[in-house]
Order: sequence, then structure tokens, then C-alpha cells
Amino acid sequence: MRRIAVVPGSFDPVTLGHLDVIERAAGLYDELHVLVVHNPDKSALLPIAQRVSLIEQAVAESFTADNVVVSSWTVGLLVDYCTEVGASVLVKGIRSQIDVAYETPMAIVNRHLAGVETVFLLPNPAHGHVSSSLVRQVSALGGDVSPYVPAVVSEYLQRSPQ
Ligand code: PNS
Repeated sequence: MRRIAVVPGSFDPVTLGHLDVIERAAGLYDELHVLVVHNPDKSALLPIAQRVSLIEQAVAESFTADNVVVSSWTVGLLVDYCTEVGASVLVKGIRSQIDVAYETPMAIVNRHLAGVETVFLLPNPAHGHVSSSLVRQVSALGGDVSPYVPAVVSEYLQRSPQ
């Protein structure tokens, strides 16, 4: 049986921390879907199609894997996407106790809704402090975000300051 997992998130924009989790998850499953999901609780910086494109480019430039699919999901439950592609696992990166508190109820609800399990990966300590919201703030104020994001993202943000 093919083991299919989904790494969901806003990815607004994708960071080096996300990429680390994506690469490690790709090594654990036969097929890995990186899914850009609209989060209504957050005001978006980048259009969803742009986030998908940046993830595709960053993955292609960062590591070799033929089992990674990048997609988006803007209507319905996250677990509906899992059912559609046959995924039984969600993978999330956990940086802190705050992430644990944020992710735990979602993991329980997703298991209850559709039997989808959530697997938490601890970050590479080098990226433990990196978040998309921090990147958005530094970028908006004219700072250098290149230590925190893939080169394609840093170049994109320089070309198209928000
Ligand atoms: O990167 P983020 O913003 O922390 O990602 C949060 C996200 C998009 C994974 C979360 O908001 C989510 O799972 N949304 C899907 C909506 C859903 O299915 N909700 C019900 C079960 S939690």
C-alpha cells in the first residue's frame, strides 16, 4: 500500500523551516503532497497560485525528490483533500509549546472527522525561530529575509515588494 501524506499550511511565504520539514517528510512517505490552504484567520501576503509556484521552485532547487506534489485547497475541509488523494497522514512542523497548543485540537478534530492521523516533526534547530509572519514583517519593513527563506522567495520579495 502506498503511504501518502500531506504537509498543509499557509506557506505565505514558504520558509527554510517549511522546506526542512517537506524534505524530511518526503523521505518518510511514498508520496508527499504540499498543500497550500487558505487560512481565513490570517491576512494573506501572496496569492495562493504564487505560493504554490514558489514552493515548486524551492523544492526543485533544494533537494531531489520525485514524490513531492504541490497543490492548493481553498474550499472544504483539509481532510476532504486527504480523502480525495488517498492520504492517511498529515505532517506538521512543531517549533514550540505554542505550536503544540495550536496544532493539538486540529489534529484531534482531523482524526475524528476522517481518521487522518497527524505526525509532528521537530525542527532543525537552525530554523526553529523562523516563521512566515516574521518574514512578512521583516520584508515589509525593508529588511533582508534571505537567511530565512529559499533564494527564490527572497528574490521574489525583492522584485515585488509588498
Ligand atoms: O500555516 P498555517 O496557517 O498555520 O496552516 C493552518 C492550516 C491551513 C493547516 C489550518 O488552518 C487548516 O488545517 N485549515 C483547513 C480547514 C479545516 O479543515 N478545518 C477543520 C479541521 S482543523
